[in-house]
This record gives sequence, C-alpha cells and structure tokens, in this order.
Amino acid sequence: MAIIALANLKGGVGKSTLAVNISGALAPNVTLVDADPQGTAAAWAEEGQLPFDVMAAPLSDSAVTAWLDRVLAIETEHTVIDLPPMLGEATTAALAICDLAVVPVSPSGADIRATNGAIELIEKARTARKSDKPRALLVPSKVDRRTAAGAEIEAALHGYGEPVGPSIAQRIAHADAFTAGQWIGDFAKGSAGHSEIRALASVVKKIAER
Ligand SMILES: Nc1ncnc2c1ncn2[C@@H]1O[C@H](COP(=O)(O)OP(=O)(O)O)[C@@H](O)[C@H]1O
Ligand SMILES: [Mg+2]
Repeated sequence: MAIIALANLKGGVGKSTLAVNISGALAPNVTLVDADPQGTAAAWAEEGQLPFDVMAAPLSDSAVTAWLDRVLAIETEHTVIDLPPMLGEATTAALAICDLAVVPVSPSGADIRATNGAIELIEKARTARKSDKPRALLVPSKVDRRTAAGAEIEAALHGYGEPVGPSIAQRIAHADAFTAGQWIGDFAKGSAGHSEIRALASVVKKIAER
C-alpha cells in the first residue's frame, strides 16, 4: 500500500492532470482522492470513463481526523491524493501520511520559485515524522522544449537535491482528455503523451514503494 500526493503551492501546474493520469496508469488497484474544493479530479470522473474510483474529499467538508480516517481506510494498493494549490490543512495532513509527494513544476520563473515553498513543507513533514518520508519527486510539467525555460527546467530542478522525474510535455491531448473525461491511456493510447505518463508512473511507483 502506498500513498502518493500531488503537491505544489501553485495552481495550474498540472497537479490534477498528473493525479488523474498517474492513477490511470496504476489502475485498477488505485483510488484517487480529490482533496481540492475546486473538484477538478471529481469533475474529470463525472463522465464515468475513468478506470478507477475517485473519492471527493475536500478537507473543508470534515475535520482533519475524520478526513485522515477516510483516506487511511482506502483498501486499494495505491492511493493518489490531488491537493489544492495552497498551504492549508489538506496539504499538511497529506504530507503527514504520504509515502511520496509528487511536485509538478511548470517552466516559468515564478513556478520554479514556488517550488521552494513546497520543498520546505516536505522537509518540515520529514522532521515531524522523524523519517525520510515523504519522499519527493519533482516533475517538470507542461514543458515546451522550444522555450528557453522549457529546456532549462530539468537542470534547475536538479539543484534541489531531490529526484527529478521524467518530464511531461505540454500537449493538447492532455487538455482534450480532460474534456472527454478520460485518462490519456484511454484517450490517446500509445501516443507520446501516454508513454510519458507511463514512464512517470513507473518511477512514482518505484519511489513510493521503496
Ligand atoms: N502536460 C500538459 N499539456 C497541456 N495542458 C496541460 C498539461 N498539464 C495540464 N494542462 C492544462 O493546464 C491547466 C491546469 O492543469 P491542472 O492539472 O488543472 O493544474 P493544477 O491541478 O495544478 O491546478 C488545465 O487546463 C490542464 O488541461
Ligand atoms: Mg488541481
């Protein structure tokens, strides 16, 4: 059993997109917890086309202990938690229980700077847990290699001393898959976007289960 949280204090970096697609790659033995009151992952699931369960569980709806009880009662092999883009109870609670925090970072100066905040939170959680958990994986997200920032992001992220995951390119198919209510492996099976997600999910699985 492994718990994987998608965390970044910034919105729009690809947390929900990666949460849904990593879950798709780990399906069927996975539950996706939508802890963001915005409900992106829950909306994605509305068409009934995702091959795994999505639990809508914004922390604002319940007390932290009740939320933790719900999440820890999940019986699938993997639990993926899609977090809101802010420092709050949900992020703190998820970092207290997860095995791995996946931090998507999109290639803009502002987003790379916001990574500092996410890493500080992860380090705080490790100290509180007196553990090397949560492990972290920094994932270049929405990468356009034609831009200078796109080419430089991997090098910039290696400076944090945490593992840097396979990059996820900016692709129309990811936005279209959301509109279709599907994960990329069903929406565009065998596409470049699908193979990037599979590569990422296999690294995520390996680090989370270590
Ligand atoms: N790799 C990608 N390629 C193209 N569009 C993407 C990609 N990842 C995310 N997006 C788009 O960017 C926007 C924000 O993504 P989302 O996953 O909702 O971010 P977050 O959960 O961090 O706020 C959405 O419109 C989504 O479709
Ligand atoms: Mg989101």
